[in-house]
Amino acid sequence: MEHIEHQISKVKAGLEILSHTIDGSLTEVKAHMDSVGHILAEYTHDRKMESIGLMAGGVAHDFKNFIHIIAVNAGSIKDSTENARNVRRCRQITAVCRKASDLVEHMMNLTETGELPTKKVDLNVEVKKGVTLLQDALPERIRLETVFSEDMSSIAGDPTQICQVISNLVNNGREAIEGEGVISITTGEVILEACDCLKHGNARPGEFAVLTVSDSGPGIPPEILPKIYDPFVSGKKGNGNAGFGLAIVYTIVRRHNGWIDVESKEGMGARFSVYFPIAQGESE
Ligand SMILES: Nc1ncnc2c1ncn2[C@@H]1O[C@H](COP(=O)(O)OP(=O)(O)OP(=O)(O)O)[C@@H](O)[C@H]1O
Ligand SMILES: [Mg+2]
Repeated sequence: MEHIEHQISKVKAGLEILSHTIDGSLTEVKAHMDSVGHILAEYTHDRKMESIGLMAGGVAHDFKNFIHIIAVNAGSIKDSTENARNVRRCRQITAVCRKASDLVEHMMNLTETGELPTKKVDLNVEVKKGVTLLQDALPERIRLETVFSEDMSSIAGDPTQICQVISNLVNNGREAIEGEGVISITTGEVILEACDCLKHGNARPGEFAVLTVSDSGPGIPPEILPKIYDPFVSGKKGNGNAGFGLAIVYTIVRRHNGWIDVESKEGMGARFSVYFPIAQGESE
């Protein structure tokens, strides 16, 4: 709610400046008009993700139970039959249940918990943990580079979810790079003023930790870029469960009261910058 109020005050401030600068710099007028557009776009997307999360959470729980019952029964029938054809059928049911179970897991990840994480987390420590896990899964042709900012302030976060953000972004870089390439992860801190927040609807002034994951791949296909955080949007062919990675990243980052900036140019790689608010004194 506080956040919505901030967005509304940003719109008001933008319109206020607009009314005063109408005779002044056209560039400034345009920047504020764009800013209003960004705020509305982000607001609409947040509401859409909230509805998706609500629906997904509602059906996913029941589905999980149904799938479990089907899988257990298929297993029992397989164990009690000698009929090779029925054994094959049961194996097919079990395989489909596993896929359905993955899908349900993704859907549950989109559920909004409504609670902001309060644990104090050192972003550098989480990135180092994530990198150790991810390094082994990368093929030799892809180099993983890290640049850590020293003396970072803590963020209020959930270590497991932050690790998931890093993993999903690095996996996308890995999948995008054909042949040799580099994925870079950097951490840093920024202090944003109101004038730095015009390009992103959820951006606001304050102190933030920034996690950046960039790659030397071909960049995000332009037809996908505008809807990149929607679930089921994927450039991958023939994988029914694809298109959740960035939707989950988006949900996690919004749960942390942060936002994501994406930059991508065809042939020049992609860069995701994730902003997390610095933890305030009351965090554990
Ligand atoms: N770093 C990147 N470079 C190029 N394209 C990207 C990059 N990150 C995301 N994309 C594009 O955005 C699409 C959506 O990404 P997202 O992670 O949400 O789903 P996915 O990778 O297709 O499937 P999943 O993550 O569920 O396995 C990708 O399929 C790809 O087309
Ligand atoms: Mg992905």
